[in-house]
Amino acid sequence: MPQSSGPDETLRCPLDELPAPLQGLVREARAARQRAYAPYSQFQVGAALRVETGELFTGANVENASYGLAVCAERTAVLAAVMAGHRAIAAIAICTELDPPAAPCGMCRQTLAEFARDCEILLCSPSGTSERVTRLWLRQVLPHAFVPETLHAYTRRIQSRPPRKPGS
Ligand code: THU
Repeated sequence: MPQSSGPDETLRCPLDELPAPLQGLVREARAARQRAYAPYSQFQVGAALRVETGELFTGANVENASYGLAVCAERTAVLAAVMAGHRAIAAIAICTELDPPAAPCGMCRQTLAEFARDCEILLCSPSGTSERVTRLWLRQVLPHAFVPETLHAYTRRIQSRPPRKPGS
């Protein structure tokens, strides 16, 4: 199967053409990247998300000598928002040192889907690297998602079943 080099070039747009709040999100993601703790991969990632009520939360990747314990920037930001009492994500900007910038990993896409029916995803590079941003939506990068409603539908179905007889 051919390897994709990332999202379609047509999704790229100059930073200064984005609405001001989204430009602000990109600035915050770039700043958050500076706080990454990535001594093993050297791949620093920053994320900034806006919740439906307008507040911003940031995150960066935090690695560990036990490699598998690394936490991605996106999930660090989601956990900060949830801990502040927010459960509805509107948009997220993610800064990686690549141009074109990298897209979020599968685990982070799934984590976003828990707290957003859909949300805008902006992929950016550090300032001075590229002033073009990739604009995507979660539904594009995670089609047919396994979402909370999927599980709720199942839970409702098993709760409406008659109780099982012992041994059956
Ligand atoms: N990483 C992120 O922070 N976000 C992603 O979506 C992909 C990967 C981090 C994890 C690890 O610290 C480093 O990048 C290399 O995989």
